[in-house]
Amino acid sequence: MRQSDILSYFNLEKHPFDKEISTQELIELPSNIKAHGELQLLIETKGIGILTGPSGCGKSSLIRKTAHTLNPGLYRPFYVFHSSLSTADFYQSFAAAMNLSPQGRRSSIFRRIKEQIINLNDQQRIHPVIFIDEAHSLNTDSLKEIRMLTNFEYDSKNACTILLCGHSELIHKLKLNILSSLANSITHSIKLDSMSGEETFTYIEGRINSCGGHPGLYTKNAMKLIHDISGGILRTSANAAWRSLIKAYEHKSAQVEKEYVNMIVNQ
Ligand SMILES: Nc1ncnc2c1ncn2[C@@H]1O[C@H](COP(=O)(O)OP(=O)(O)OP(=O)(O)O)[C@@H](O)[C@H]1O
Ligand SMILES: [Mg+2]
Repeated sequence: MRQSDILSYFNLEKHPFDKEISTQELIELPSNIKAHGELQLLIETKGIGILTGPSGCGKSSLIRKTAHTLNPGLYRPFYVFHSSLSTADFYQSFAAAMNLSPQGRRSSIFRRIKEQIINLNDQQRIHPVIFIDEAHSLNTDSLKEIRMLTNFEYDSKNACTILLCGHSELIHKLKLNILSSLANSITHSIKLDSMSGEETFTYIEGRINSCGGHPGLYTKNAMKLIHDISGGILRTSANAAWRSLIKAYEHKSAQVEKEYVNMIVNQ
């Protein structure tokens, strides 16, 4: 069985649930639109914010979309992705994301990052927006340093916007005494949750529509079951929708019905 056979059987131009979806193709879900609006407000007010939600609910995609829609004449987005543990590594990822040399001692990288932020603000009149993804996996030392990095002119200047993005354990971490200075500097706490049933319908139908498929390809009952088994998590819904489509293809059905979703549950 080949992917191209499945797609042509259902008249789909491409894989509707592929991870590699372009920013323009991201579906406008009400929960996403709300979180996007809150992110825009955070950026306009130049604050420090957190974006939390369960794994696979669309946080990184929302960051990508927000970065994409920033006015390049006013803002410059930087994306820091950090998965290892030491603070030295964190600094190196941070410097690399800002196109700075990651070489040298922690204190010199710290100075370089701050100079770059000030330079963008004062010389280029560009406000840096720094997205730190997977922030729940940062150690407390690195999180503490983020507060230091945003302290400019005796803490009287908002020279950059910072968004910490991660799973809800980030909120628990921020309750630690040692992080109180960072915690009470947070101006916006944004939550992205799992999709409602209606949003799951919009997501599946929207993806099928963008790929040229038939509007009723998934029956309502099939989509409802996909929603129930995935808990409304985008990534899980995408996998369940794709695997059910394969089942429908194997059974030479023109539609994805509930029974095909049931088959993947029982596999
Ligand atoms: N608005 C959207 N429309 C269509 N697909 C989306 C949308 N948002 C996210 N997705 C898809 O859902 C999947 C999960 O999204 P994403 O990686 O952004 O989740 P996440 O919350 O960052 O997960 P994690 O916490 O594991 O990093 C991705 O494959 C992505 O392409
Ligand atoms: Mg992510």
